[in-house]
Amino acid sequence: MRELSLHIMDLTENSIRAGSTLIEIEIAESRSKDLMTIKIKDNGCGMDKEFLKDVISPFKTTRTTRKVGLGLSLFQTACQRCEGSFRIRSKPGIGTEVEGSFKWSHIDRAPLGDIASTLALLISGNPGIEFVYRHTTDEGTYILDSRELKQILEDVAVNNPLVVDWIKKNVKEGLKDINGGV
Ligand SMILES: Nc1ncnc2c1ncn2[C@@H]1O[C@H](COP(=O)(O)OP(=O)(O)OP(=O)(O)O)[C@@H](O)[C@H]1O
Ligand SMILES: [Mg+2]
Repeated sequence: MRELSLHIMDLTENSIRAGSTLIEIEIAESRSKDLMTIKIKDNGCGMDKEFLKDVISPFKTTRTTRKVGLGLSLFQTACQRCEGSFRIRSKPGIGTEVEGSFKWSHIDRAPLGDIASTLALLISGNPGIEFVYRHTTDEGTYILDSRELKQILEDVAVNNPLVVDWIKKNVKEGLKDINGGV
């Protein structure tokens, strides 16, 4: 995939399909360690040991619309191509955590892409699910928590176009602050 935000969207869709009510997306970027880590943690239905053993295989899917599931295997391949690692942990009834890393400077590492729109879409499109986005760089941390956002909004719906625009702007500015203001 051309952008890491597309992988994030894909992995988050897995969490949504698993019936999660809380999805945490964590990005840690360190230029000094030359490392970028992406973690998606949910409190959905989880998977048992047996299922987890070959979940990475493209033929492992609970989708009924088609016979292959590619999300996890594409993400794993992207990490491995960039001298990174991939790990998935899951417990039935508790949730799932998918973590992948990349060598930050690797020529094949895709850019993060439009994470602001991704988050706006996820939050506004799933009003019953809470999202926490945490992004750390060598310069600081930006956090967006949909629970806090909803408290501020009171009766205004998260899918109100003004709110969607606000989320996008807030994420863009927040990320600018932890990326040397650019
Ligand atoms: N967070 C999760 N919680 C519970 N089950 C999951 C989770 N992520 C993946 N799975 C299970 O693993 C299977 C494979 O996931 P994967 O993302 O690789 O493919 P897919 O979602 O089936 O299809 P695609 O990603 O191509 O749309 C899913 O069908 C689902 O059963
Ligand atoms: Mg998937």
